[in-house]
Amino acid sequence: MEGHDLNHRGNWGSKIAFIFAATGSAVGLGNIWGFPMMVSRNGGAVFVLVYILAVVFIGFTVMLAELAIGRHTQKNPVGAIEQIKPKSPWKLIGYLGILTGICILSFYAVVASWAVGYLVKTASGAFRGELNSEITDQIFTSFTANPFQVIFYFTIVLGITTFIISKGVKKGIEKWTKVLMPLLFLLIIFLAIRALMLPGAEAGISYYLKPDFSKFNGTVVLYALGQAFFSLSLGMGTMLTYGSYISKSDNLVTSAGWVSFADTIIALLAGLIIFPTLFAFQGVPSEMGGEGLVFKVFPLIFSKIPGGLIFGTLFFTLLVVAAITSTISLLEVPVAYAIDERKWSRQKAAIIMGIIAFILGIPSALPSGGVAFFTQIKFLGNMFFIFGNLSLAVGALLICIFVGYVWGVKKAIQEITSGDRPFRMKSLWVFSVKFLSPIAIIIILYFIKTIAG
Ligand code: TRP
Repeated sequence: MEGHDLNHRGNWGSKIAFIFAATGSAVGLGNIWGFPMMVSRNGGAVFVLVYILAVVFIGFTVMLAELAIGRHTQKNPVGAIEQIKPKSPWKLIGYLGILTGICILSFYAVVASWAVGYLVKTASGAFRGELNSEITDQIFTSFTANPFQVIFYFTIVLGITTFIISKGVKKGIEKWTKVLMPLLFLLIIFLAIRALMLPGAEAGISYYLKPDFSKFNGTVVLYALGQAFFSLSLGMGTMLTYGSYISKSDNLVTSAGWVSFADTIIALLAGLIIFPTLFAFQGVPSEMGGEGLVFKVFPLIFSKIPGGLIFGTLFFTLLVVAAITSTISLLEVPVAYAIDERKWSRQKAAIIMGIIAFILGIPSALPSGGVAFFTQIKFLGNMFFIFGNLSLAVGALLICIFVGYVWGVKKAIQEITSGDRPFRMKSLWVFSVKFLSPIAIIIILYFIKTIAG
């Protein structure tokens, strides 16, 4: 362990270990499941464009702000804010983050359990032979209609997550990401190339990359911004908590840059697999598949590849791993809080928070046939919107205001440049943290009224 001792809290082994762990948190279902789904619901390429702008001008800003608070205080979100601004209501940012983390974990682990189910299906040859979109659609529907199976996998996902977190940050999180993330990246590139070669892929490419500006509206911006926060793990203190384990000698700007870049590339590549494949198989698809999109489309491309069974199995294995490096980062936030502020043991904290997420996740795991409110897709979709979008946007807004005006950009910059690090985009960051990001988020939150009403 290098650099500053963080006593019982643990620390990253090195800067590269932090980058891998933070990338592990960022890259997950949000990129491969969430991003294509959002693109398909929000006008295609226009969404992609707004998303990229949101990452560059707002997401990156918030990430740097979170990392600076985290490293400065070396604490969980609640403790960190208490240290900077004692006895103030700003601590609410921390509590909101903890609540949001558990709620996101609850439905996120359900989608991860679908991925586990698909891993088992693919490996046992369920997708062999000639496939078409009707078959894969049917397979997804009947799979999610079986609550026992889904809840069984859901238990496994949360069990593994809880186990890793109970072992601690360094031992638990680092190990997974080092080898498997690069492997996922390579496989995705390979699949994207294959998808682009499918006959009929062009229509998908142009849907995905040629913006139709008549589709632009407030909803697109709302979802793009929310998706940027979700995908980069921002707005609820994950990056703040991970930042609290970074050594003082590391460069926060390049770290944040790498994580944002890697996360965005993987999301963009996932779309480059999904849309060409979807259009190649369905002509112009009338209905894009909602929450099941990825699960309906990926098997199609595997059916076109020699050795599809092996590639498919590898893909879903890596997707599960990517999901678990994200679930652990969601659970780590409430756990770090319970350890620091409530003096619980790591194990106790992990188990209790894991159980809460389990109970909250059950309605999201139930099949769509149930009572209206407990309809799976509805409940899961609503949890995603409320906690995975709105709550993160509110959290990110408060973080910007807190750093920009309460803690102050001067102190934040001191932390970012500690050890005389260069920070060339300093004034751009200050402008974004104080004005651009908060104003953009406020405008978007204001428009939700119109969107919801
Ligand atoms: N970013 C992850 C993904 O894209 C999910 C995630 C992990 C997350 N930690 C988070 C989302 C914190 C929001 C906040 O799959």
